[in-house]
Amino acid sequence: MKTTASFKEMKQNNEKIAMMTAYDAPSAKLVEEAGIDVILVGDSLGMVVLGYDSTIPVTINDMILHSKAVKRGAKNTFIVTDMPFLTYHSSLEVTIDNARRLMQDGGANAVKLEGNGTVIEKIEKLTNAGVPVVAHLGLTPQSVGVLGGYRVQGKDAKAAKQLLEDAKKVELAGACMLVLECVPKQLARLISEEISIPTIGIGAGKETDGQVLVYHDLIGYGSERVPKFVKQYTNISESICHALSTYVTEVKTSQFPEDKHTFTMKDEELDRLYG
Ligand code: KIV
Ligand code: NA
Repeated sequence: MKTTASFKEMKQNNEKIAMMTAYDAPSAKLVEEAGIDVILVGDSLGMVVLGYDSTIPVTINDMILHSKAVKRGAKNTFIVTDMPFLTYHSSLEVTIDNARRLMQDGGANAVKLEGNGTVIEKIEKLTNAGVPVVAHLGLTPQSVGVLGGYRVQGKDAKAAKQLLEDAKKVELAGACMLVLECVPKQLARLISEEISIPTIGIGAGKETDGQVLVYHDLIGYGSERVPKFVKQYTNISESICHALSTYVTEVKTSQFPEDKHTFTMKDEELDRLYG
């Protein structure tokens, strides 16, 4: 299994890091078989799996449940689990206990925290306590209410400078990787050059040290509208819809089940039954 050291080494060797989300055992198994470097159990599960319209309602128990399932499906892949909304903003004790649960109960190898400011202090404390931390800057979806929507971040020089400073701070705090979401490619490139920890981009152009996409977006599963930065490699919803409606038709017309799906009794047993 790759480690935080492997990811740093990959950056030094200019080897791109491929990260993908997964939320359950079968998706994790496929993602592992595809040769992914890191799995992210993202709190995007709130939207793509649980049907909420943001990541705000996701709980620590949701993250533990799904991390456990992912771990069972992908035993040999490094797993990062998101700390959900307001589980790392109150006391240090609460923050550490939530991280402990994600690692000990959920099986995560690292946790991811969104944001700057006091969150950076938490990154340092967690790292000191032995918790590998992935930072997340740029568009931070847990702050959608404050940001006023899902928008590109760091577009003007002032905001870009702030983001670069924050990136340096998270590195100094000990973060092992940095997710950059929805930032201009020029800024993502600059940050990637200026810090030694790997940057993982989503909507950040090709010059980050790696990329991450949401499983459901990538395979076109359930998501009707996807953001500009998503590449849909297939549209699995179409195949699923076709299979499901064919099943309904075949039930209604008694075409399913066929003999090959059916169990039978021996004639002698049948005779006894009707005896
Ligand atoms: O929750 C998630 O899937 C994420 C990625 C989009 C980085 O945080
Ligand atoms: Na997330």
